[in-house]
Amino acid sequence: MKAISIGLLGLGTVGSGVVQIIESHQDKLMHQVGCSISIKKILVNDMTKERLVAVDKGMLTDNPEDILSNPEIDVVIEVMGGIEETRGYLMEAIKNKKHIVTANKDLMALYGPELLELATENQCDLFYEASVAGGIPILRGLVDGLSSDRITKMMGIVNGTTNFILTKMSKEGRAYDDVLKEAQELGFAEADPTADVGGLDAARKMAILSTLGFSMNIGLNDVEVQGITEISEEDLRYSKKLGYTMKLIGVASRAGDRVEVSVQPALLPEAHPLASVNNEYNAVYVYGEAVGETMFYGPGAGSLPTATAVVSDMVTVIKNMRLGVNGRSAVSPQFRNN
Ligand code: NAP
Ligand code: HSE
Repeated sequence: MKAISIGLLGLGTVGSGVVQIIESHQDKLMHQVGCSISIKKILVNDMTKERLVAVDKGMLTDNPEDILSNPEIDVVIEVMGGIEETRGYLMEAIKNKKHIVTANKDLMALYGPELLELATENQCDLFYEASVAGGIPILRGLVDGLSSDRITKMMGIVNGTTNFILTKMSKEGRAYDDVLKEAQELGFAEADPTADVGGLDAARKMAILSTLGFSMNIGLNDVEVQGITEISEEDLRYSKKLGYTMKLIGVASRAGDRVEVSVQPALLPEAHPLASVNNEYNAVYVYGEAVGETMFYGPGAGSLPTATAVVSDMVTVIKNMRLGVNGRSAVSPQFRNN
């Protein structure tokens, strides 16, 4: 098979991790897909900015067309964030028969069904494992690993930034603003962290999880949301004294045809397994009628953990290219209408 060319949209926290993994794992990747993989072009905003990874300056561009309509590029990896403009870019790329990998939950929670439909019409793959819970392969866990079961409930911590903030505030007595700043510096927080602390980021992830887990379209409007902005240092001190730990918890459950999805801060007894999920780590319980209780745990944000999920999706796209099954793969975590 010919060498595969990648166009990368974004070279920030996640994009830098993607470059690092593709470069440093080249032998393993080649062994898996049977051909070499190279990043051809990288879209950025600011061509002069210092980068977290060394890249050939000639690869950088601020013209999206160098990727979206470049006939040499097979796979577009979107790690730039944003919604409307990004949706337009991905639609153009798909119409130009490019496969897509994205980490963008904002986009997928809003336009996932439409983009997936367009991808299928164009025999293109669109994978988005990194959009929920960073490095944890939760979407594949639901769609492949638990495909034979009927999921009844999912519950867990799906935002790394808020978990980092609550952990540092309660364990180290640090101030909210100070810890939020550190989460931003470490690359966990969104460009605008209001979505993290207000619970919207977790709500987007719960919408994606429940859509896949329950096989029905759950939109953002179906999710009840409360973030951590109202929680004070005093609240955390008192809860600790009483033997409880505060966590931002997402819950999606169904009984018959009725589905409820919410995100809110909750007090957990210290012995509860989710109470010991700290810092940027995430954990999701999935309950299935046949399997019972399963738990997925791992880093929910950060450069390399998130990039691992992105590059694994890329590997699946290339394997599908070899098999000629792009856009109709049984393992594709599709949003399903019913
Ligand atoms: P980031 O550090 O802010 O990086 C964004 C990159 O995209 C930057 O390189 C920026 O260019 C470029 N970019 C943004 N808008 C652009 C535009 N309109 N045109 C051209 N280039 C543009 O963001 P990130 O943390 O890597 O996150 C990227 C995506 O991954 C987001 O959808 C986020 O929700 C998702 N995600 C992030 C994490 C995480 O831990 N950070 C985890 C899971 C998912 P410049 O560098 O020139 O400014
Ligand atoms: N801002 C997100 C978080 C990044 O903190 O969980 C991972 O999706």
